[in-house]
Amino acid sequence: MRHRIATYSDESSEAGSPRAGGDASGPADGPAPELVAPELVAPELVTFTGVEKRFPDGTQALAPIDLNVRDGEFVSIVGASGCGKSTLLRLASGLTEATAGTVSALTGRISYVFQDPTLLPWRSVRRNVETLAELTGVPRAEYRPRAAEVIELVGLGGFERHRPRSLSGGMRMRVSLARSLVLSPDLFLLDEPFGALDEISRERLGGELLRLFELRRFGAAMFVTHSVAEAVFLSTRVLVMSPRPGRVVAEFTVPFGFPRPAEMRFREDFTRLTAAVSRRLRDGEAG
Ligand SMILES: Nc1ncnc2c1ncn2[C@@H]1O[C@H](COP(=O)(O)OP(=O)(O)O)[C@@H](O)[C@H]1O
Ligand SMILES: [Mg+2]
Repeated sequence: MRHRIATYSDESSEAGSPRAGGDASGPADGPAPELVAPELVAPELVTFTGVEKRFPDGTQALAPIDLNVRDGEFVSIVGASGCGKSTLLRLASGLTEATAGTVSALTGRISYVFQDPTLLPWRSVRRNVETLAELTGVPRAEYRPRAAEVIELVGLGGFERHRPRSLSGGMRMRVSLARSLVLSPDLFLLDEPFGALDEISRERLGGELLRLFELRRFGAAMFVTHSVAEAVFLSTRVLVMSPRPGRVVAEFTVPFGFPRPAEMRFREDFTRLTAAVSRRLRDGEAG
């Protein structure tokens, strides 16, 4: 089935784009009456309708999946190894095609970040950050200042001339994030980006990723992780997948607003939600 890409352009999304979740719109203290709940008006960026994926060797990776991701959402995906999470992101990006159903992406501005930062060892931090923009034909006069800005935003100011080998794992991942953010993606796909990092770097980078989300350096995210706590901390919505063939067996709306302080992880409502997601994940694995 085709991966359909249409261009989405609507100026109103810039200013009005909501962050789903948390402080959204209870009728009591909520928005002016003429406003509709933001999660109903934000444009969809990608929609999966009855999507299945079977590989040529017969492996059925995904059972039918129905799912959409809207502008302003941060959607995490958790599930057992091999359940089809990476396949789901590859389908969203158009890197692979569904064998049944349809994937519709309403934007062409999609960026991908993997666990392995895959930096070019001979290029400096600055030149690595510029690589994707350069390859996709963005004029240099445009990407230069954008790269400089993003390098500052991800906390790499002062390291522009360093080569990847002199950076820590966390810093290399920052370069990888910056390289994708230079493209100002509408949809940011992250496949276990912090999986190789120690817990402290991981939490710090998670916090920074959220700050970039709040700054609207990307419109929406699909984020694959093995860590339920990471999923809940970062997301507006968490999807739980069954073992292969992967289906979405549960969906949790995360009711916390932004910004989210690191200490939120110790709050009772936070741990209660992570426990509920973990339980669902375990149930899925058992059944
Ligand atoms: N090119 C391929 N050919 C055959 N099977 C594949 C291919 N890519 C992935 N798979 C299988 O599809 C299933 C889902 O893979 P993947 O999406 O990578 O899972 P996850 O990211 O959740 O670990 C796995 O069983 C994997 O072995
Ligand atoms: Mg994977």
